Amino acid sequence: MTILDELETRRAAARAGGGARRVDAQHGKGKLTARERIELLLDEESFEEFDMFVAHRATDFGMQMERPAGDGVVTGWGTVNGRLVYVFSQDFTVFGGSLSETHAQKICKIMDMAIQNGAPVIGLNDSGGARIQEGVASLAGYAEVFQRNILASGVVPQISVIMGPCAGGAVYSPAMTDFIFMVEDTSYMFVTGPEVVRTVTNEVVSAEDLGGAATHTKKSSVADGAFGNDVEALAEIRRLIDFLPLSNREMPPVRPFYDDPGRIEPSLDTLVPTNPNQPYDMKELILKIADEGDFFEIQKDFAGNIVTGFIRLEGSTVGVVANQPMVLAGCLDIDSGRKAARFVRFCDAFEIPILTLVDVPGFLPGVSQEHSGIIKHGAKLLYAYGEATVPKVTLITRKAYGGAYVVMASKHLRGDFNYAWPTAEIAVMGAKGAVEILYRDARGDADKTAEKTREYEDNFANPFRAAERGFIDEVIQPHSTRKRVARAFSSLRTKRLQNPWKKHDNLPL
Ligand code: HXC
Repeated sequence: MTILDELETRRAAARAGGGARRVDAQHGKGKLTARERIELLLDEESFEEFDMFVAHRATDFGMQMERPAGDGVVTGWGTVNGRLVYVFSQDFTVFGGSLSETHAQKICKIMDMAIQNGAPVIGLNDSGGARIQEGVASLAGYAEVFQRNILASGVVPQISVIMGPCAGGAVYSPAMTDFIFMVEDTSYMFVTGPEVVRTVTNEVVSAEDLGGAATHTKKSSVADGAFGNDVEALAEIRRLIDFLPLSNREMPPVRPFYDDPGRIEPSLDTLVPTNPNQPYDMKELILKIADEGDFFEIQKDFAGNIVTGFIRLEGSTVGVVANQPMVLAGCLDIDSGRKAARFVRFCDAFEIPILTLVDVPGFLPGVSQEHSGIIKHGAKLLYAYGEATVPKVTLITRKAYGGAYVVMASKHLRGDFNYAWPTAEIAVMGAKGAVEILYRDARGDADKTAEKTREYEDNFANPFRAAERGFIDEVIQPHSTRKRVARAFSSLRTKRLQNPWKKHDNLPL
């Protein structure tokens, strides 16, 4: 055999992974193989592989007899719509995708390169966890990956896609990345599996209920989104990458756009109902502001009272945070505070400007909220907005009451442009609550209460008190929102703002 033949033979062996039987089993579960996934994730023929011939060095349990090339993970780099990304894809057909010392070294190598060269890391996870035959060497491998996740945080975007099992301490690498996406029915994540849970706590639960995609997107909020199958998940990750800068050294990408930034939307003039207690869909406003109505939502199925995600304006990425009157009247609570705070911090870390759409009646009252720490969790969002130095444009469509008014990227938290629609009500609280406190003696007197409520509404339920003080820069017509917001961001492209030097902050965790 010539050396060239040997190269091709070795390559073919590496590409075959764990062999046809195991590949068939993988397909049988509705899952693609590690290499098929990379093919779909990256631009055609852009993948360049590293370490195809790396094999483990373990000798316990007869492991020296089986040393498959690649060691259960495919690593390398390529492009997504022409932009550089690094990728690792665990191969479940080789030792169940389990992580050995050398498997970890392969992942660490591409992570180091990603940090050095400033490009995102995308991890396609499908693994039985620590390679049991390697014991502590495998744990050390995980720790090396964790350390790099931490160092890469805020330097390059890190995206985890869970496409099979992800259990035990292995969950903590995805947990430290910026976004986690799961595939419905074929992926799960938990620290201890159903068997251990049953033994320790007597709770009987399936893997799906304990840590499937529905659980993590709707209940725990560990995952940022779930998709129907591998193909859809990988296509959506490509879509997400298009919104993100490659690193914190670069500005977000600007794409050609085919949507008039001055587009007028007459329907917005009637979006806010006349009855202040009637909800409306804030997503309609987001879609009408966005270039081509394109919105990539993050955590769609969790804390629906706040909406987070990415749009483009004049081709440039903008992060959107919006109260949603359709859910809990748009109140801020623990879940929405945590969700939006993390999103705001991601945007700020990667120089993505933030658009905040406000219709918030306040913080959600209740014993459970107080006992579960709404004070600390609510403070997260306040803190995140206050520390953010990226361009911030805020629009109040209707209610902006009390502390929630301040939190939602108000002028006082260094909002650059603070707009309000004429329907805005910026006040310390709603009219009903205010009258109950100010006119205690009128309790039970329906006529007087109604009169005082009307009086309060006439005086305070408008944007002008705040505009008189300069807390609102301008009251704008709803139909011209896209134009005004796009112009505002465009004027902020050269914004420079720095916080005082510190080792790092101490945000309320
Ligand atoms: C070595 C493993 C493996 C592992 C699976 N395999 N997990 N090999 N180390 N951790 C191998 C199997 O031996 C099998 O090999 C092949 O992968 C496929 O596994 P199956 O069991 O046949 O697949 P399936 O029925 O789909 O079940 C998948 C599974 C199960 C649920 C993941 O394999 C499993 O429970 N594995 C062990 C999980 C585990 O306990 N991991 C350690 C957790 S501790 P053959 O040759 O038959 O194809 C941990 C700590 C991390 O991860 C700490 C970080 C700080």
